[in-house]
Amino acid sequence: MTEETKEEIDYEIMPEDTPIHDISFKLIAIGDPGVGKSCLTMKATKNIFENDYSPTIGFEFYTFIIKIKEKIIRLQIWDTCGQEVYRSLINSFFRNSSLAILIYGINNLKSFKNLEFWLNDIKMNSNPDIKIFLVGNKKDLEEKREVPIDKAKTFYKEHNLHYFLETSAKTGFNVQKLLIRAAIVLYEESKNLEMKTSMVKNKNENNNNTNSINNNNTNDNTIKLTQENDTEADLNDKPVKRNNCC
Ligand code: GTP
Ligand code: MG
Repeated sequence: MTEETKEEIDYEIMPEDTPIHDISFKLIAIGDPGVGKSCLTMKATKNIFENDYSPTIGFEFYTFIIKIKEKIIRLQIWDTCGQEVYRSLINSFFRNSSLAILIYGINNLKSFKNLEFWLNDIKMNSNPDIKIFLVGNKKDLEEKREVPIDKAKTFYKEHNLHYFLETSAKTGFNVQKLLIRAAIVLYEESKNLEMKTSMVKNKNENNNNTNSINNNNTNDNTIKLTQENDTEADLNDKPVKRNNCC
């Protein structure tokens, strides 16, 4: 799926403080320092853009709530710091992430070349079903472009990533589209898994009326892998860092 793809599902973006939701997913934004991870996440969730560079230390998280087909979906986006020294900390955050947003700067060839390392980290540390979106940020800096879009599209295809688009956190170009697409992909995946689980359940019930599927069944676990366990406790056992603290 590339940036030309139209959103074919009806959706409604909900206020950030919407008190209830049906499904929650954890996303992680990763990439080299300064590519715009924080700006992109802030623009998409709060419509704020900051010109000054203030490197993230540790993590910050942002919330995006969207209604798709009557289901309220909460995306929890973990904005990570790009510095090498925090790599092992970031690696621990891949656990339970349903989707990784892998970001480079279109004006920064080095950040594009380093995508291989980031991909490797994802593969080594995340669950195998994780979805990976590739994002070329700073599209407004066209005159400083160092990464041709075709090169990025080739990378996206060669690595079987799930989505690619270029964005500008500064102008807002494609920024919300990124999260809307993420929500749709995760929602559809959860529906498919739900359907498979219910098919297996029906089959088992037909085979053996006395034995219904219990909670430890493999398919149930598969769903839990992609849908975040939505409790405050789950949040609290992570090293939550905000406002550039570490
Ligand atoms: P770390 O937290 O150090 O990993 O960096 P980061 O990836 O979070 O980068 P950040 O969002 O802090 O942005 C770095 C610099 O790039 C800031 O000065 C931003 O204003 C600028 N920036 C971010 N996105 C864009 C964009 O789309 N266009 C332009 N022109 N500048 C951007
Ligand atoms: Mg940052």
